[in-house]
Amino acid sequence: MIEFTLNGKTVRTDVTADTPLLWVIRDEFNLKGTKFGCGIAMCGACTVHVDGGAVRSCSFPVSLAADKSITTIEGLNNTHPLQAAWIEEQVPQCGYCQSGQIMQAATLLADNPNPSDEDIVNHMSGNLCRCMAYVRIKKAVKRAAQDSQNAVQTYTPETADKEA
Ligand code: FES
Ligand code: FES
Repeated sequence: MIEFTLNGKTVRTDVTADTPLLWVIRDEFNLKGTKFGCGIAMCGACTVHVDGGAVRSCSFPVSLAADKSITTIEGLNNTHPLQAAWIEEQVPQCGYCQSGQIMQAATLLADNPNPSDEDIVNHMSGNLCRCMAYVRIKKAVKRAAQDSQNAVQTYTPETADKEA
């Protein structure tokens, strides 16, 4: 039995240890936002977070998830600044790659709240989009970074005092 945390809840599975985490997420726990693209860690469609790091779940044996914290696109609860920015910039075309794109981008902003264009391109280079939405993806990541910084500036202790 393998136990881990999935979007904040403790879950258990008795699949074989080498089963890819992707199929456990999709088939056992019915979270369909994480997609299967290439199956060989080359496209990024299946990206999830394992203890905060971006991982290709198609090529990640579930045994390695034991006692770790897994977050899928559903775990962002439609509240991540990237998700709002994705809507504002109308990023998706077919949409298939987009949950992986957002999960990958989220790890960039967690480490680097103010990424340059080059930082974004480098960090996102392993996430492929057959619809070629790359320009909008970059714009949305920049918008999310800016929006997050504005939110932080808006809620300084001084402004919070004034609003109270
Ligand atoms: S499906 Fe996992 S990287 Fe392509
Ligand atoms: S939006 Fe279609 S694959 Fe990226």
